[in-house]
Amino acid sequence: RIARKHIHCRGDIDMLTIPLLRIYESLIPPEEEKEKQRQLLISLEKLVVNEWPHAHLFLFGSCANSFGVSNSDVDVCLVLRDADIDKSEILLKLAEILQSANFQNVQALTRARVPIIKLKDPVTGVSCDICINNVLAVVNTKLLRDYAQIDVRLPQLAFIVKHWAKSRGVNETYQGTLSSYAYVLMCIHFLQHRDPPILPCLQETKIVTYHKIVDNIECAYFDQVEKLKTFGSDNKESVARLVWGFFHYWAYCHDYANTVVSVRTKNTVSKRAKDWTRRIGKDRHLICIEDPFETSHDLGRVVDKYSIKVLREEFERAATILQTYPNPCEKLFEPF
Ligand code: GTP
Ligand code: MG
Repeated sequence: RIARKHIHCRGDIDMLTIPLLRIYESLIPPEEEKEKQRQLLISLEKLVVNEWPHAHLFLFGSCANSFGVSNSDVDVCLVLRDADIDKSEILLKLAEILQSANFQNVQALTRARVPIIKLKDPVTGVSCDICINNVLAVVNTKLLRDYAQIDVRLPQLAFIVKHWAKSRGVNETYQGTLSSYAYVLMCIHFLQHRDPPILPCLQETKIVTYHKIVDNIECAYFDQVEKLKTFGSDNKESVARLVWGFFHYWAYCHDYANTVVSVRTKNTVSKRAKDWTRRIGKDRHLICIEDPFETSHDLGRVVDKYSIKVLREEFERAATILQTYPNPCEKLFEPF
């Protein structure tokens, strides 16, 4: 690995920007899809407020973080003021209400790590998951959306990486590979560490303009991102170079044994400092990706000794294809 670490990018890499951007554009959801999602939220809100007058509904995940590709499920969070609620009880009640309102495939998954209801809206055809009081997810959704406003190369890179991960079957947490959320954080971290950087660390700027305490966790950062529109303009790298660089980094440069990927700080975060060096219960910490707010949470915890091999081989495969194929796009996204 070390010997291949310093290989240079192919000379004609920038030529791949046009086909890669074409793929990016084909993944952007059309406006009518966004409109359907808004309609669904409005109809859910009516039903919920009828039962719980002080409740609020928030969109989170890819339908609200601006990293959503076309035809994604909608993630909704129901926020109830009372902290001591029995989530299962509420979910079962809500499932009953939704069923009577003719939503399809209503399922309450009350025993999941994050209990949810799954449903399909017969009017818009949109599928949706509803969880309760998962306010941290609503806040990290805003952080991702804010990062996406700073430099368009972030959504471009992240859409391409997510599309690659879905095509190659490495976006399945129940099979030990990584969530979309984890991949987006890996992209943000990568762009924070370009030279010159393309993204700042919003949680490390001197001024805090957004502040919230959620589940005893302080969520604070600079969210006036319209003032940061030129932050990355000294870096002229093309999207193709960044896509190649991303896979090259994860294939040959990342120090899996010692370092944690963190978007919270530009300093190197060591696995040792977080005590993420050994297996604890099911968490093996073979690839460590720190949640920006819930910093004790490793999004790589799902990765096991088999899936880490799959992941690293896929990173190497992608880097090699981009480096050597004359027309790499088809091969890169070939279904596994
Ligand atoms: P796709 O549905 O694959 O397009 O992407 P997504 O952005 O909706 O991703 P995902 O389904 O992985 O996660 C949905 C949202 O849940 C994320 O945007 C986060 O806000 C939140 N989330 C996901 N995983 C975790 C986790 O392990 N911890 C926390 N705190 N939040 C998470
Ligand atoms: Mg989702």
